[in-house]
Amino acid sequence: MIKVITYGTYDLLHEGHIRLLKRAKALGDYLIVGVTSDDYDRSRGKINVSQSLMERIENVRSTGLADEIIVEEYEGQKIDDIRRYGVDIFTVGSDWTGKFDYLKEFCQVIYLERTQGVSSTMLRSSRARVRLGLAGESTILEKFVRECRYVNGVEISGIYNDDLSRIPESLKSLPFVTDNYDALLEKSDAVYVITHPSRHYDDVKHALEQGKHVMCESPIALSENGCKELFDLADSKGLTLFEGIKNAYSMAYWRLILLAKAGKIGDVVSVEATCTSLRDLDLNDKETLKRTWNSVTAWAPNGLLPVFQILGRDYREMRIVTHMLDEESRMDAFTKIEFVYPNAVASVKVGTGAKSEGQLIVSGTKGYIFVPAPWWKTDYFEIRYEDPNENKRYFYQLDGEGIRYEIVAFSKAIETGRNFVYVSRESSEEITKVMEEFHEGNKLIRI
Ligand code: CTP
Repeated sequence: MIKVITYGTYDLLHEGHIRLLKRAKALGDYLIVGVTSDDYDRSRGKINVSQSLMERIENVRSTGLADEIIVEEYEGQKIDDIRRYGVDIFTVGSDWTGKFDYLKEFCQVIYLERTQGVSSTMLRSSRARVRLGLAGESTILEKFVRECRYVNGVEISGIYNDDLSRIPESLKSLPFVTDNYDALLEKSDAVYVITHPSRHYDDVKHALEQGKHVMCESPIALSENGCKELFDLADSKGLTLFEGIKNAYSMAYWRLILLAKAGKIGDVVSVEATCTSLRDLDLNDKETLKRTWNSVTAWAPNGLLPVFQILGRDYREMRIVTHMLDEESRMDAFTKIEFVYPNAVASVKVGTGAKSEGQLIVSGTKGYIFVPAPWWKTDYFEIRYEDPNENKRYFYQLDGEGIRYEIVAFSKAIETGRNFVYVSRESSEEITKVMEEFHEGNKLIRI
């Protein structure tokens, strides 16, 4: 009996897949089809797959061509499978020509002509397209535009800034450049708001009122009521309002939150997050001060997210200690936000006028999670115990600093009308509560 094996994602099963499977089957007597797992696809940069593993397995099963279906979960599995199943022929489409020649040592390798004019990528792109407008200014925007190219079904409609001279040259080639927010909204289904935080509430509200989905760089507003009002407005209009904290979409970050909550380090007693980035600021230049994010808006949402995700919102006390440089613009050099929970404490240190080690430590009664700097681009963390032999290291591929996954999650939420809750509404509200305390300034401890 001649055994044949082939691998693929088989997302949105199409004619190209079926023709390939038919010819693969005809090469022998028994066909094994390896369907790639979601994790493995993600680790090799395939982030747009729209059907779940179970649906894709069902796609292959429904062709009636596979004698056996297996799941491909890791790099190097092909050699293991060929040995394990006693495979005679390995085959894939001609888009892979040459790539699997190293398997010739183990079995025959045959590349089959790829069917022209159809692919899962094409099918995904031709489904609902989201025209995404950009509002505001930030160095993130250039990365954002670059990362959008990896996301099927999202196209940038244009960019808005109330001062055109502040749009970087590289973004002036976007299809539409304007200083009129309404004009951008008219050309868009959704908007990414990254204006100054003091404008977020108005800019988000206006976009929602115009029937547009919104992803807003955190914080969504500078008051808790403002935040609630925006979510209520989005709900009442059936629109997606998404909080943009890119780290929330990194696989490693998500896993460490789940492990902490699942008791891997016992009961959590402390969360400590530090985020800093030094910059030069002329305190006499009031115009620049007005346009610059202070340390708290620039960094605190990142640090506050794991605190609220792990410890929840029922803290007994919050204390904010800050070194303020300019009262009017609330420009701080560094700020420490502390929380006292019934059985735990948390502290978030942020600064743009001070430098520190940007790490995250979650301490528990049995061990602790350590995420080295810069933890807000999490791809690696360790769980450490009293006995170092029990320590575990975790690594997950992170492409595009998480921005790519954030855009995928946003477009999926728009497409399906469901938010996959990477950042819950409750966390968003708590973040804005902290923003409110800081910007009101009444209870701040100034040093
Ligand atoms: N295939 C093919 N002809 C096509 C598309 C795919 O012969 N038009 C083959 C691939 O070469 C591979 C198998 O079908 O051997 C599974 O491919 P997969 O990557 O799942 O499909 P694609 O349509 O290429 O997916 P994507 O666009 O996401 O890369």
